[in-house]
Amino acid sequence: MSTNGAPMSAKLVAVVLAAGQGTRMRSEQAKVLHPLLGRPMVTYPVQAALEAGADRVVVVVGHQADAVRAALETHLPGRDLAFAVQAEQRGTGHAVLMALDATEGYDDVMILCGDTPALDGETLRQLRQVHEAAQATVTVTSFVVDDPTGYGRVVRGEHGHPARIVEHRDATDAQRAIAEVNAGLYLVDRKALVETLRQVRPDNAQGELYLTDVVHLVAGRGGRVRGFVLRDPSRLAGVNTRAQLAELEAVLRGRVNRRHMEAGVTMHDPASARIEAEVEIGVDTVLGPNVQLLGRTRIGRGCHVEAGAVLRDCELADGVHLKPYVVAEGARLGPGVAAGPFAHLRPGTVLGQDVKVGNFVETKKAVLGQGSKASHLSYLGDCEIGRDVNVGAGTITCNYDGVDKHVTVLEDGVFVGSDTQLVAPVRVGRNATVAAGTTVTDDVPEGALVLSRTTQQVREGYYERRRRPREEAKARAKAAKSAARGSESGSGPEGSQG
Ligand code: UD1
Ligand code: CA
Repeated sequence: MSTNGAPMSAKLVAVVLAAGQGTRMRSEQAKVLHPLLGRPMVTYPVQAALEAGADRVVVVVGHQADAVRAALETHLPGRDLAFAVQAEQRGTGHAVLMALDATEGYDDVMILCGDTPALDGETLRQLRQVHEAAQATVTVTSFVVDDPTGYGRVVRGEHGHPARIVEHRDATDAQRAIAEVNAGLYLVDRKALVETLRQVRPDNAQGELYLTDVVHLVAGRGGRVRGFVLRDPSRLAGVNTRAQLAELEAVLRGRVNRRHMEAGVTMHDPASARIEAEVEIGVDTVLGPNVQLLGRTRIGRGCHVEAGAVLRDCELADGVHLKPYVVAEGARLGPGVAAGPFAHLRPGTVLGQDVKVGNFVETKKAVLGQGSKASHLSYLGDCEIGRDVNVGAGTITCNYDGVDKHVTVLEDGVFVGSDTQLVAPVRVGRNATVAAGTTVTDDVPEGALVLSRTTQQVREGYYERRRRPREEAKARAKAAKSAARGSESGSGPEGSQG
């Protein structure tokens, strides 16, 4: 038996209740699937249980069971997760009954709810310590609230330990005056749980099987019931409405941002930065205001991501500089890359070391080799660009013929002049030069100059002959009109023609 501070020895399984629909969300989607910081709600308590040392987590699913299962398997791959189906929601006790088979072989069962995303591993570890130090049969987590309406009340017995939990609807006036409420988080000796759950009856206002009845049943057969009073009940706040979803996401956002700052990331305005749960950031990276780092984005060390950048599923090596308002998805940026302001890097973009992509450049399935530059106003789609290539302003890869996409290849050292169209499929050989304004339709050999322009034509004296007489006539007509208006003393209804 372990005491406080000693290693925890009991084999622990967690049961997460996530079968309910969550009607107050007013959603087609099951409540526990609503995302917070890019991760479904139910993944948070499951992860917390794993962090607290649960060897296995059994999730009780009902509404949209397959989707809940898929979400957990996607976000927590390779963990020992089991699923128990509760087809009809007949109460929290019934939900745990459905999970019992999957808990066989474990000593202790931790029971928690799928709609408490702020729950963290540290709080669950404390629950374990309290439970094991007291050698309790069941430990009930509680907190004190100003308005306990709706919660189950913790009724304490003569020794000061919890004796029973009474649901709000079943409580007497005296019990309703109790401010200590059941948090819905328990640690129970498995054997006692199995035996007492079988005795639970639906003899209550809701006609449900209440898990909370286990408490007085355990006490009644001489088991030890202990309380774990949480000082920070915000960690157990549940989500029932969209407003609570937003509040809890703000709590998690603050927590994530603080974790990154503690790990060496500078944030100019943490209140406006949105960093999703699975994002990784290296030390000495600086994030400007209103930055959003989403999905599985990974950022190296010493990067600078300026204001308003939105990155989803991107990978940035060390020393990358994103100027304001870069929007990128599924892009891989090598060390020293600089992009933006206002660059749009779409999936399949791979930028080699020290590549520069400037303002209003859009890339898609574009591979640019080391040292290449596209500084202004370009569309680079479905292209392979070698090293040290200079892509001039206004260059467009014409990758789509209306039916199929085609590839453009620019080999190492190519110089592309401004306002060039590259009509794919096309290949421009090493060190070739594309003159400004060229439409490249056929492959260009290595080292060549390619130029496609119509011959410039010049007509001398055009201004004197054509433009000037017309401009002078217009000016005379305008003067005559304003003179006429002046003599009328007071303007006509039509006013000036401008
Ligand atoms: C429960 C507790 C109450 C406690 C409160 C804390 C009981 C009887 N009451 O009440 O003492 O103060 O939590 O929030 O346990 N669920 C299922 N299947 C079911 C019923 C519920 O999976 O058949 C899941 C829900 O999806 C939810 C969790 O269990 O995640 C809690 O259920 P809920 O109906 O919200 O319980 P409360 O009435 O709030
Ligand atoms: Ca609830």
